[in-house]
Amino acid sequence: MKTIVSGIQPTGSINLGTYLGSIRNFVKLQEQYPDHHFFLFIADLHAVTIPRDPQALRKTIKELAAIYLACGLKKDNLSLFIQSEVPAHSQMSYLIQCFTYMGELERMTQFKDKAQKQEAVAASLFTYPALMAGDILLYDAQYVPVGEDQKQHLEITRDIATRINNRFGDFLTVPKPLIPKVGARIMSLTDPEVKMSKSDPNVKSRINLLDEEAIIKKRIMSAVTDSEGKIYYDKANKPGLANLITIMSALSDQSIESICATYQNKDYRTFKEDLAEIVIEALKPIKAQYQTLINDGSIDTILDEGQSAAMRVANKKIMKFNRKLGLGRKRK
Ligand code: TYM
Repeated sequence: MKTIVSGIQPTGSINLGTYLGSIRNFVKLQEQYPDHHFFLFIADLHAVTIPRDPQALRKTIKELAAIYLACGLKKDNLSLFIQSEVPAHSQMSYLIQCFTYMGELERMTQFKDKAQKQEAVAASLFTYPALMAGDILLYDAQYVPVGEDQKQHLEITRDIATRINNRFGDFLTVPKPLIPKVGARIMSLTDPEVKMSKSDPNVKSRINLLDEEAIIKKRIMSAVTDSEGKIYYDKANKPGLANLITIMSALSDQSIESICATYQNKDYRTFKEDLAEIVIEALKPIKAQYQTLINDGSIDTILDEGQSAAMRVANKKIMKFNRKLGLGRKRK
């Protein structure tokens, strides 16, 4: 069975960045790879590498499950599950750590960024990439669809898998990242130098998928641009506008060139109004489907099925890995 694996942390409301960088891509890939099985999960073990409010975390986990499904994933070749409900992820993380070097972990830019913001840094924040590598290697993922910011984590995953294979024979699939051409790094609306993020304390920096239409419009109309007033794509000198053009391109499937041609003689206001309309229309069906799912109670059944399917595959892999390492005992 060929597999595609990816996860999202339940650390806040899902925003346009996460949607365009990951979930929307999952939906497209399901069509493109009908013969692959998708293991998609809610990365709650990753979330607790930083202190969280337990009640809020639990709420977000369920919301994220509904968001995944509301975005249009098909259920036939999908196992959707919660990472902590498949204990093999924790087990695999430990085994992977035995093949991960301190120096490699020290080079991770996300660790450096996140650690800087913490008073006390948990060891799990440091070993985070080993947990992530385990998530992927447990299922022998061929492909891992992620946004740009996860590229380094995929590189270390590939290095670790190759290292383990060199020692024990080809036992793990070395995964390839799938990064979308447009939308792999959506930037903050208030500071286009940093990525749009669930954890940004400034709510104006992002659009959440469940935001009301008036809020969406407000966020886009007040998004930071520049004072030149001319519409063309220049990421280095006009990062705010470039980000908005990227969002329009990703959501309307028009190329960046054709958008620039359409708006070359128009002002920012007209462009932003049109963009707001496109975002609102794109999110309408997701919001409607989200409400249906929250009300009909089908999410728990889907998560239960996902958990069983994931456990079947993951437990086998752990047993095999233990055997390779000489752990446990041989039974007659
Ligand atoms: P997380 O929860 O930060 O983000 C989930 C996915 O969304 C992408 N993304 C973005 N893409 C474009 N623009 C943005 N502004 C933006 N913000 C987020 C991320 O690149 C990611 O693909 N460590 C992962 C979760 C994870 C995982 C895994 C992913 C855990 N185990 C195994 C793949 C495979 C994370 O924190 O993603």
